[in-house]
Amino acid sequence: MPPSVENPLITARRERTRWFLADRFGMFIHWGLYAIPARGEWIKSIEKISDEDYQHYFDEFNPTNFQPKVWAKMAKEAGMQYAVLTAKHHDGFCLFDSQLTDYKSTNTQAGRDFVREYVDAFRAEGLKVGLYYSLIDWHHPDYPAYGDRIHPMRDNEAYKGKSHNFPTYLDYMHGQVAELLTNYGKIDIVWFDFSYDNLMGEAWRATELVQKVRELQPHILMDNRLGASGEGNHRFTTKNPEIFAGDFACPEQIIPPAGLVDEDGVSVPWEACITLNKHWGYCAADRDYKSPRQVVRALVECVSKNGNMLLNVGPNAKGEIPGESGKVLAEVGEWMRQNGESIYGCGRADLPKPEWGRYTQKGNRLYAHVYERGIGPINFRDLRGKIKKARLLADGSELKLDTSWVTSDYPNDAFIDFPTSRLPDELDTVIELELM
Ligand code: GLC
Repeated sequence: MPPSVENPLITARRERTRWFLADRFGMFIHWGLYAIPARGEWIKSIEKISDEDYQHYFDEFNPTNFQPKVWAKMAKEAGMQYAVLTAKHHDGFCLFDSQLTDYKSTNTQAGRDFVREYVDAFRAEGLKVGLYYSLIDWHHPDYPAYGDRIHPMRDNEAYKGKSHNFPTYLDYMHGQVAELLTNYGKIDIVWFDFSYDNLMGEAWRATELVQKVRELQPHILMDNRLGASGEGNHRFTTKNPEIFAGDFACPEQIIPPAGLVDEDGVSVPWEACITLNKHWGYCAADRDYKSPRQVVRALVECVSKNGNMLLNVGPNAKGEIPGESGKVLAEVGEWMRQNGESIYGCGRADLPKPEWGRYTQKGNRLYAHVYERGIGPINFRDLRGKIKKARLLADGSELKLDTSWVTSDYPNDAFIDFPTSRLPDELDTVIELELM
């Protein structure tokens, strides 16, 4: 129950995030010029590449196999409900037809507005659409370069003392956000990335930006990185947040051990963003993919802690989602088709984590995600007399509650006689319990 006197920002946030917290599973897409060098999206910074040298990638960019309908279908079939595409990443390259720069996909050989094609294709599959927009810009001349912590030219003496006019950059950045939220119809999520050091909050003219964002798209959800980096969620989890605190926190490459709560222990919206291998942007040498089982269990873990998962793909220079990613997504999708009811609209169950796996819950449906079969009947601590019906979620088959003498020493616990000595689904076997 919400407290009687609540900050209106929190009330609005709860209303806005309702669909998001029911949808639970989204696709993150990191794609841009960096798909060509194929060493991840930070390459310009890590290898301290100058604008001149990075220009090759702009000149070459021509992803002839870009088929957003294929991406959208893959997301849909994986059971994802929304997506977030990098409209501009830190390298400053825009996948949309911005009027404020020449550094955009419509000026490459490709000559296409990828944001437009993406929103059209994903909406057509019934998915909600989000746009990632980098607050950081390693291309714009008015973004701090020399002496910045991460700019590619941070220690290039030629940039020392070079003047730049940050307010001009801010006008540009605000202008592009306005373009994205004006020219592409209804956008469901804007995903700003990221604040650091002094570049945080009002340094971005964050209040003004958020007011504009809300004016253009009142329903839109916003992450919390205008006021934070990937860490530092305290600005978000307070009960009296700043206007730019955002609608959800976005822990990166980690699932918060105990979920995320405000000062009173009340759950707050969050979304863990997770890569499928070890990079966001395409990395040809990185073949360290997570297994479908890891992905399913990570998603279940998020939901069991009231969170979402935004799972990343990094399409290559031709515009294709890597085959390995596609395979993992297809298997996850197969599991979701059979077990999606234990994810969508579900959240934390008010029960301790069971020995054999995890619980998720939606109303009087408790979902037991059984990872370990164990021996004998499956134990449900403290649920004796509370379970009306049990079935295997994947095929709806009935499972019988065990009332035999072997369980009689444990009067508070329920037990289910599982018909096989091995679990039918190695990824995650879900038992649906209808509670009294
Ligand atoms: C980071 C990285 C970035 C990536 C993002 C995803 O902040 O800078 O490359 O886009 O996280 O969460």
